[in-house]
Amino acid sequence: MTTSPYMIELREVSHAYRTKAGDLPVLDDLSLKIPENSFCAVVGPSGCGKSTLTRLVSGLMKPSEGQVWLHSQLVTSPRPTVGMAFQNPVLLEWRTILENVLLPMEIVKSTMSRAEAEKRARHLLELVGLSGFEDKRPSELSGGMRQRASLCRSIIHKPDVLILDEPFGALDAFTREDLWCTMHDLREEEPCTCLLITHDLRESVFLADQVVVLSGRPAHAQYVLDVDIPAKRKLDDLYTPRAVEMLATLRHQIQVAQGRAADADAPLAQHAPPAKPVRRPIPGAMQ
Ligand SMILES: Nc1ncnc2c1ncn2[C@@H]1O[C@H](COP(=O)(O)OP(=O)(O)OP(=O)(O)O)[C@@H](O)[C@H]1O
Ligand SMILES: [Mg+2]
Repeated sequence: MTTSPYMIELREVSHAYRTKAGDLPVLDDLSLKIPENSFCAVVGPSGCGKSTLTRLVSGLMKPSEGQVWLHSQLVTSPRPTVGMAFQNPVLLEWRTILENVLLPMEIVKSTMSRAEAEKRARHLLELVGLSGFEDKRPSELSGGMRQRASLCRSIIHKPDVLILDEPFGALDAFTREDLWCTMHDLREEEPCTCLLITHDLRESVFLADQVVVLSGRPAHAQYVLDVDIPAKRKLDDLYTPRAVEMLATLRHQIQVAQGRAADADAPLAQHAPPAKPVRRPIPGAMQ
């Protein structure tokens, strides 16, 4: 058994849940390779096994078949070097925001002293735009602010790997885009390997180096897109012809995964040239 040169590697992973009605195959022969400090987004139809994948990578579950490798080690149990954030930030109401961010330090072994951890927590909160809110309770923050605090909590212990399972899914479009930019800022300051589960194709293209489209259940990697938008991405980059082309490719692949398009290799419909802006005269206005 050779070790893995990747930060995260799945080798021919299959998983089935045991249910009363019999085995439910969810993942089938799934292989993934995610290099250190890169960002991988996973998209796929609802119920195809994306959250199952995160549980296998974090070691919360073992695959029925195949291997999961993390930082050259075979994953057989939960790993403290993994940080996680979910759609629901689940902050503890009886703790302040600062104390919530510090929570993992009480669970995970770390060489950081309490004073260092607190300094780091305050710095992370400042990075995500939450300085001044350290002593507030979660209910005093908006949904987007709570998710920012949850992101700080997921990286406070300096994990090697950050797993994000639809963390921006419940937020309005503008807050979501704001948080995408916050993610870029965080990673610029603290590079780490990220695995993001999302239903938002724009989010996947804006944040990731590679986007993996899972097939319908039982899922395998149906398509891998290398995102070639240069670093220091801006939201405007999502409106370039190249980004639009990548989004169309992903949309097509999702339709194939959903069984709504017949052929994974079918050529994409030719894009119409961009429409010329139309200036309509406003009645009564000077033209
Ligand atoms: N603990 C479990 N026991 C039995 N079946 C499960 C369990 N967890 C998930 N499943 C089933 O496995 C399948 C995949 O679930 P999973 O949560 O991984 O999907 P998903 O891709 O994350 O879906 P969504 O996009 O809706 O979040 C679903 O059919 C689900 O019902
Ligand atoms: Mg899920």
